[in-house]
Amino acid sequence: MRNQIAAANWKMNLTITQAEELLNNLLQQPKQLSGHQKVVFAVPFPYLSLAKNKVSGHANYFVAAQNCSNKKSGAYTGETSAEMLQSLGVEYVVLGHSERREYFSESNVVLAEKVNIALDYSLTPIFCCGEPLNIREAGTQNSYVEVQLKESLFHLSAEQIQKIVIAYEPIWAIGTGKTATADQAQEMHAHLRKVLADQYGKEVADAISILYGGSVKGSNAKDIFSKPDVDGGLVGGASLIAGDFAQIIDALK
Ligand code: PGA
Repeated sequence: MRNQIAAANWKMNLTITQAEELLNNLLQQPKQLSGHQKVVFAVPFPYLSLAKNKVSGHANYFVAAQNCSNKKSGAYTGETSAEMLQSLGVEYVVLGHSERREYFSESNVVLAEKVNIALDYSLTPIFCCGEPLNIREAGTQNSYVEVQLKESLFHLSAEQIQKIVIAYEPIWAIGTGKTATADQAQEMHAHLRKVLADQYGKEVADAISILYGGSVKGSNAKDIFSKPDVDGGLVGGASLIAGDFAQIIDALK
């Protein structure tokens, strides 16, 4: 079975005390996870070491950064390299979140560079894609998201692409409380898997986890995750509430 992942995206939230409290809270609730079920905490850079320490000894729990530089090292003030993340023991990195695309002008080309450097340092990219509202209203979301994949991922080999986790996050559903329906999520995930299969073959496409993101909550996770091509979620707001995120972990297939 494909990996099923509950990924918490804390974004730019919480003080260190609040972060520690949230992690303690979640890690104290024992979960019976199978080998293919994983929990990932994408925390702000200053809390990566704390999160690594907290999850150590908890099988199936991992830590992600929310971004990394497209440069290897050097005079890039304020940037964080993939090598630094690797040296901290971080396993995943979220790349191409719509907030990074919108507020920090990250293009598909820059994201391709970030994907490459993340893989060079053995990080698993959680590559985000998704359409804005006007594209959804025009009904052209499938080709819009397809271009994001093609321009940032399709230079990878079949072996490399299987190391990527994809997160489909319709921008109109992020932080808005307006979730895509489970059927809308399934429809896009099936499309993405077909696009991957056309490029890399069915076996490769079937091995890639595709997460849904956009107003996932404890109350709707089970419905969304039950769809055959939805392999878990990338969760913003609800990941800051221990009880809600615990329910989302429980909803993994
Ligand atoms: P949300 O955010 O769950 O608050 O909608 C999801 C995300 O941006 O990853």
